[in-house]
Amino acid sequence: MPENFDNLLTIIYLIAAVLFISSLGSLSKEGTARRGNLMGMIGMALAIGATFLHDPNTAIAILLVALGLGAVLGALAASRVAMTMMPELVAILHSFVGLAAVLVGFASYLGKPPEAINTVFLIEVYVAVAVGALTFTGSIVAWAKLSAKISGAPLLLPGRHVLNALLVLAMVGFGVLFTLAPGPGEGMMPLLVNALIASIIGVHLVLAIGGADMPVVVSLLNSYSGWAAAAAGFMLSNDLLIVTGALVGSSGAILSYIMCRAMNRSIWNVVFAGFGTSDSKVVAVVSDGIEREVRTATAAEVAVNLKKARRVIIVPGYGMAVAKAQHSVSQMTRTLRAQGVEVHFGIHPVAGRMPGHMNVLLAEADIPYEVVLEMDEINRDFRSTDVVLVIGANDIVNPDALTDRSSPIYGMPQLTVWDAAQVYVLKRSLSSGYAGVGNSLFFKENTSMFFGDANTSIDDVLKNL
Ligand code: TAP
Repeated sequence: MPENFDNLLTIIYLIAAVLFISSLGSLSKEGTARRGNLMGMIGMALAIGATFLHDPNTAIAILLVALGLGAVLGALAASRVAMTMMPELVAILHSFVGLAAVLVGFASYLGKPPEAINTVFLIEVYVAVAVGALTFTGSIVAWAKLSAKISGAPLLLPGRHVLNALLVLAMVGFGVLFTLAPGPGEGMMPLLVNALIASIIGVHLVLAIGGADMPVVVSLLNSYSGWAAAAAGFMLSNDLLIVTGALVGSSGAILSYIMCRAMNRSIWNVVFAGFGTSDSKVVAVVSDGIEREVRTATAAEVAVNLKKARRVIIVPGYGMAVAKAQHSVSQMTRTLRAQGVEVHFGIHPVAGRMPGHMNVLLAEADIPYEVVLEMDEINRDFRSTDVVLVIGANDIVNPDALTDRSSPIYGMPQLTVWDAAQVYVLKRSLSSGYAGVGNSLFFKENTSMFFGDANTSIDDVLKNL
């Protein structure tokens, strides 16, 4: 490559890397998130453009076909996917990154001139293939669980920790064989076995993780996919891929840590403990085995109590997203605020099906950021609140998680809505939420169930207001 081309490439890479970093910084606040998205898109466009400069011998036609195909498939997937199915889409996209790292690993190994192969290169290839294969199969299992293609219940094989440890030991052993092999003729077998073992570990690790922990798993796989991309960057000697992979890898790791802290769990506990779900679906019977009745409310009753209230807190969950009720909720909020009622929103860190899911929906419906508070900010306010509306939320408002040691979600922090004077739970039935566990909130003295689709229910309340 001519030297001036090389310099141009380095400058483009640098600008793209700075744009990616600034994009991440801006995405951390609602007010600047749009700008962050734009910076990320410009950075990515520059990076794609630079790909054409990277190697003048690359067949441009092949690149254009690959780009065109990717762009069409990406645009189709993004335009068709419902907001509630984003985690599935993200999981399947992670699997592509993993698969790409595996393919790049094999291609670099086979394509490298024998005199240029050294131990560091071999370790890079081996690790990239392992991380890539684990990310690939783990992400496919996560996709299948999130889209309910397979059960969300954890598969807890007896002696599974020993099995994992043996598989890791075997990988190390084959790694030694691989680095000592004199050439691809002998090295291919250990590399293939490595890919196979890592694939099994990926499947096994994610199958063992239960429903309520899936958010952490998705962000962990996000992190793995970043490290897999960084490893591919080392093999291809591509600085931008190394930087971008490291950004994805570290931000995914930080997000996993934040989510674990929010769920009051350690990362080891999530990955190895199999917490989080049972298969029960209908929960008219609570954990102590006694059948209980629930109170029910009508739209008219909810409207009267909302009008009388001084302070109202709305807790949205996955069901609000399913019902697409955010615009009706926004209109109800405006109506109540116009009548002098103080309205706030309480957001649990894992409400919905992706980080920030509720914040995005509320922002889309023009609900002002300043009335939207995080769990830690709002939990002490429930005691002085007259009415709480729980809209399509379940696992994030479950008192058993704080009090019942036998509950599969024991230890998960909760929005303590039951401290308010009156709680209305808007959902269609007494079914459980994502974690598949019962919820004693529904049977509390100060709770009334307002059954129905959340959007229809809020519209009915609005009519009564
Ligand atoms: P969930 O516990 O899943 O509860 C949602 C509730 O919404 C369900 O019980 C359902 O009850 C109700 N619902 C569904 N459609 C509805 C509709 N059209 N109208 C009214 N209600 C409707 O949701 P959550 O409280 O938001 O908790 C999130 C859960 O998802 C946690 O377990 C979390 O760990 C997990 N998760 C989170 C993420 C992230 S990152 N946020 C990712 C994956 C998993 P009915 O069927 O009775 O209506």
